[in-house]
Amino acid sequence: MELKLSEVTKKYGEQVALDKFSFSFCPGIYGILGANGAGKSTMMNLITDNLKRDGGSITFDGEDIKEMGTSYRRILGYMTQQQGFYEGMTAESFLVYMARLKEIPRKAVKKEIDRVLEMTNLADVRHKKIGSFSGGMKQRVLLAQALLGDPKVLILDEPTAGLDPKERARLRDHIYQLSKDRIVLLATHIVSDIEAIADSILLLRQGKLLRSGTTEELISSLPPDWTPVIHSLSLEDVYLYYLGDDSYE
Ligand SMILES: Nc1ncnc2c1ncn2[C@@H]1O[C@H](COP(=O)(O)OP(=O)(O)OP(=O)(O)O)[C@@H](O)[C@H]1O
Ligand SMILES: [Mg+2]
Repeated sequence: MELKLSEVTKKYGEQVALDKFSFSFCPGIYGILGANGAGKSTMMNLITDNLKRDGGSITFDGEDIKEMGTSYRRILGYMTQQQGFYEGMTAESFLVYMARLKEIPRKAVKKEIDRVLEMTNLADVRHKKIGSFSGGMKQRVLLAQALLGDPKVLILDEPTAGLDPKERARLRDHIYQLSKDRIVLLATHIVSDIEAIADSILLLRQGKLLRSGTTEELISSLPPDWTPVIHSLSLEDVYLYYLGDDSYE
């Protein structure tokens, strides 16, 4: 399984949000790091085909995603950064609604909803209104809808935003368990979340891929005179050195 981006470019007027971005994703968890405005969400919206690209190609197993149409949408799960929520709906009715949008066969819907509710620990509250949920529960509902149809490609845009450390760790563990035989892309500002579960990290800066590698590879790429505040170097230091200010070239 391979999701391949070649020289993908997206512009908003004069502003280049993604600049000739190339990368090949195979099964595993990829952490996407970058400052506000670096192009993370833009990249994810292009991969999910919610945004028109200005250049380059995106293929899944060699086929252009535009030509795949519905068959591509079936293998895709997407958790957006913004919570556009249906507060008056119950968790279950929201998932039924999303399953329809995803064109999951009618007969399979109930079993599929049971499965994702179980995976996200929401089975007990399935008949409660989303408006009564905590932030963490709402995030889990969003994750549950992304998991409908058992997608091979899972795109998660800041899934842990606004959660307390305990809820965050819980959601992170869920995501980790999901990663078998799947391509998972995870954008977040919580560097420690990515450090704990990602197989590979991509550093995005002003729409360009600056560097990629494992946490260890990126840490060992830091110059010896880069002095962190605390003694042992972590991925947080990789972030601060490469992405912390604009002086690095
Ligand atoms: N709809 C839009 N219209 C105009 N410019 C946009 C639009 N969406 C994004 N941009 C610009 O594109 C660039 C990349 O934005 P993007 O949302 O991809 O960044 P991000 O890395 O996801 O940031 P954040 O960490 O804040 O979520 C930014 O300069 C942003 O201002
Ligand atoms: Mg974003």
